[in-house]
Amino acid sequence: MEIRDLSVVRPPLAPLDPNRLPFGKTFSPNMFLMDWKADAGWHDPRIVPFGPLSLSPATAVLHYGQEIFEGLKAFRHADGSIHVFRPDRNAARFNRSARRMSMPELPVELHLQAIRTLVARDREWTPPKPGALYIRPAMIATEEALGVKSSSSFLFFIITGPTGPYFNTEGGVRILVARDWVRAAPGGTGFAKTGGNYAASLLAGEEAKRRGCHQVMWLDAVERRHVEEVGAMNLMFVFDGVVTTPPTSGTILEGVTRESIRVVCRELGIPFVERAIHIEEVFNGLENGDCTEIFGCGTAAVVSPVGELVDVVNGEEKVYRVGDGNEGPIARQLRERLTGIQFGEYPDTFGWLMAV
Ligand SMILES: Cc1ncc(COP(=O)(O)O)c(C=O)c1O
Repeated sequence: MEIRDLSVVRPPLAPLDPNRLPFGKTFSPNMFLMDWKADAGWHDPRIVPFGPLSLSPATAVLHYGQEIFEGLKAFRHADGSIHVFRPDRNAARFNRSARRMSMPELPVELHLQAIRTLVARDREWTPPKPGALYIRPAMIATEEALGVKSSSSFLFFIITGPTGPYFNTEGGVRILVARDWVRAAPGGTGFAKTGGNYAASLLAGEEAKRRGCHQVMWLDAVERRHVEEVGAMNLMFVFDGVVTTPPTSGTILEGVTRESIRVVCRELGIPFVERAIHIEEVFNGLENGDCTEIFGCGTAAVVSPVGELVDVVNGEEKVYRVGDGNEGPIARQLRERLTGIQFGEYPDTFGWLMAV
């Protein structure tokens, strides 16, 4: 589809320093917009200067939360070329989210064309290693009407911004086990990347912060004992040398990083299994030495070691340390291989990079 170009040319005023780019605070000068209506389908794709959207206070998304989003990254290689990591997987997940939220799907090719064109337009905004350009596609319900029903019109947009590391943590991420709240139940929207899942997590997130934790670990909604995921990452545990992660059974997000790690493990000869993981099994494993590493994985955080788990029992905090709190050998191997592929330092044998 022909994309209208109404962009501005505005390179960064100073070279981008990845170590001084907090996550999600700086935005590139342009954004991509496209509309959907039942009688017209997707139409009017355009790149315009980044700026406020004009929405009526009666707009459906503001009341009923019919919205979905994605998160992926572009990386600058040493030769200056820019590559997006597995955008086809994000575009496919976007459509799974769209179906669950009763929203129109977006042809994957059109989604990829939009990302390619926007990232190329603002190419100076992809910082050098170890930074990356974070890409945020989203879709919102735009019908101007109150009443709970699926909207008759939608806006798809993409914004981007240069970013450095997601966590600035010495000694690993500290995680609070959520005992009082659940994130997602079977039949709900846990597998969809929709704002409501994140809104429902904020109260627990604040409680975690109060206890000096960076993230919340969610347990399953039915038995309240199986590990699911954390706020913005999937979780992996190393039990007796086996990388072990919960299955994606509908209540957790099917992470692109998670799936990439499964493939990288196979290539590196590291055993990898998906199975239900009991929280007591984790605590026991940490105490008796069977569980040697825990790490989170996600686009923003890549591979982030977990240093401590905090459980609150009868008002008392119980803290479980993971190894010596630093990155373990398996997490390091996986992070180095994954980032090696992303930054073009290791051959892209799986065809995971889309050149811009
Ligand atoms: C709830 C949740 N789980 C897991 C992930 C990791 O997914 P991915 O590797 O696709 O970024 C994310 C981040 O997008 C997330 O928000």
